[in-house]
Amino acid sequence: MSESRIKGFHKLGISERIDALVKRGWLNDADAERLRQGRHALLASSADRMVENVVGVFSLPLAIAPNFIVNGREHLVPMVIEEPSVVAGLTMAAALVRNCGGFSATCDESLLIGQVHVSDVEDIDAAIERLLAAGEQLIEESNGVHPRLLERGGGVRDIEFHRLELGDGRHVIAAHILVDTCDAMGANLVNTICEAIAPTIAELCAGRVALRILSNLVDRSILRCRAVFDLAEEIRDGIVLASDIAAVDPYRAATHNKGIMNGIDALAVATGNDWRAIEAGAHAYAAREGRYKPLSHWFVGADGELVGEIEIPLKPGTVGGSLTANPAASIGLALAGVSSAIELAELMAAVGLAQNFAALRALASTGIQAGHMKLHARSVASSAGVSDKVFDAVVDELIADGDVKVWKAREIAARLDESGSADTPDGIAAGKVILLGEHAVVYGKHALAVPVPDAVSAFVVEAGAEPSPNIPEFEAAIALIKNRLDVVDGHDVRIRSRLPVAMGLGASAAFAVAITRAFNSKLKLGLDDEAVNEVAFECEKLAHGTPSGIDNTIATYAVPMLFRNDGVLETKEISVAEQLPIVIACSSQTGRTRDIVAGVRERRELATEQYDAVFAQMDALSLAGTAALERADYDELGRLMNICHGLLTAIEVSTPELEAMVAIARAAGAAGAKLTGAGGGGSIVALCPGCVDDVSHALQSSGFRTIGLDERRARH
Ligand code: MEV
Repeated sequence: MSESRIKGFHKLGISERIDALVKRGWLNDADAERLRQGRHALLASSADRMVENVVGVFSLPLAIAPNFIVNGREHLVPMVIEEPSVVAGLTMAAALVRNCGGFSATCDESLLIGQVHVSDVEDIDAAIERLLAAGEQLIEESNGVHPRLLERGGGVRDIEFHRLELGDGRHVIAAHILVDTCDAMGANLVNTICEAIAPTIAELCAGRVALRILSNLVDRSILRCRAVFDLAEEIRDGIVLASDIAAVDPYRAATHNKGIMNGIDALAVATGNDWRAIEAGAHAYAAREGRYKPLSHWFVGADGELVGEIEIPLKPGTVGGSLTANPAASIGLALAGVSSAIELAELMAAVGLAQNFAALRALASTGIQAGHMKLHARSVASSAGVSDKVFDAVVDELIADGDVKVWKAREIAARLDESGSADTPDGIAAGKVILLGEHAVVYGKHALAVPVPDAVSAFVVEAGAEPSPNIPEFEAAIALIKNRLDVVDGHDVRIRSRLPVAMGLGASAAFAVAITRAFNSKLKLGLDDEAVNEVAFECEKLAHGTPSGIDNTIATYAVPMLFRNDGVLETKEISVAEQLPIVIACSSQTGRTRDIVAGVRERRELATEQYDAVFAQMDALSLAGTAALERADYDELGRLMNICHGLLTAIEVSTPELEAMVAIARAAGAAGAKLTGAGGGGSIVALCPGCVDDVSHALQSSGFRTIGLDERRARH
């Protein structure tokens, strides 16, 4: 497996994170596509076969904690968890341990215990003697239940007998059947063995079968894990003190262990394991000495290092029906990079220890609320509709103030926005949003697009005076522009954008136009719009191969346009009386235009007549939509957009997430809503006469970033 350290992973978008995992071999293309399109999630129809009375499925975040090394092996940790700070804490802890050699974990044996309880035994001693004498025969009979387990190298290893005294003085015999379940969790397997062998055991005892089921106290599968941290003395000692307190205070030990289970449960769910079983075993083990105790222990090592050790019963599985039933579980297992159940158990123990460390480190320093506060402040700033431009500054001020409220965020944003208004850009450009006809345009049909005004601003700065823009994908375009315009060294460019990239909104063309204009005005080059457009078209070729030319044209001229490209680009400017009431919303996945256009082409080969009929209909929609736009007939235009979305869905470029977004926009009052651009991720556009704020709010509160045409409405 490749390195599990992925620099800057948290700074990437969801789709870029998926790309990074594919590039490093943690994820195959098929699973990556499933994640991108939301097809990894359990379908309600499959869920209906798993439990009773199903009415739907329930979702939680799936995240990745990188950086893990356990016993020299690289692992990622897939985590299903809703609690903020857990993933970030784990990632940080694993990075620290990585610097000190990684986690070392051991597991001496990995056996699941099946129990058969026999009651009403007259002579307990004689019964146990008979059971001991029949030991080999019982093992053989038990192994006969699952011959395939034996073939796989597993099976019943031993049977032990325990005498139990009940509260009223009666006695019960507990037979413990110790089963090696190989890579399976083994619950069903062991329960079947218990049920099969129980009558023989009861007969040997001359008693009655009371219970026959596995035990979740899996203390024949104990994991031990150790890690060393190099830390400042004060924090190190704080962690040791916290550990010592947990050792004597069951109230604290419960919370201490909860922190451990935050990580273990999240990994267990992500890999399809029974986390209730793991929880039950962990807490029973924590109380094994008659008082509830912490599962981990922290102390100062011989060289002043912080040493952490955890001892916990864990018996997860990597194969079996319940895992394969859920497609997300197999993706989780692949991401974890484990090749056996024992490796997964070792990783779980390391995760528990690391999660515990992260919590104790926070408690011993800033306290646990600081990390939560940051996330809370980000979500409040987002609900307040703070623009990208001042977003981070607003978040920092909210935290510093300690008054994390929506009204406060708005107040700070207004002040910061105002103070930044003197900052006049050297060049600006529009983004574009297609209202009708995407994909059909590839086959020579009309499409209708409108600009997203003032979407990108560029500033020329002295080289080295300011950080260069953090947009590596545009470095080549910037070089091309500098070259075409003969910009001498010593000039750099800084960008402010309210357009996300790769979202079907023409960001790359808008960047090129804004940058070209910035150099043009700063260096007084005297280029007209046509020349700017031509340079931007060159940049688009660099980015997209064979672009239609519409993105750079709209970025330059910033007017609504009906266009077609049947070898050459034909454009017709559409005059509109007012700013359109449009809301754009971005999905969590970036679209890959090239791949999606290629996919449509492949499917068209197989159903040419039908696809061409769809494209012809889209052509008619674009023409009718242009007329509706000219009359400002938004109801008609909205209706046509809805039909266009249906056609785009028919040619398979929509995703479940885009469908959900379209439904949210329509339910909030949009006259029309559709995916825009290539699809397969990217954005939707909604036409919202009289309900721009309602639709924006509905989409934002479902977690989607929205962009208004009017910059004052720009929302994060
Ligand atoms: C919160 O989910 C977990 C912690 O309470 C664990 C601990 O206190 O050690 C932070």
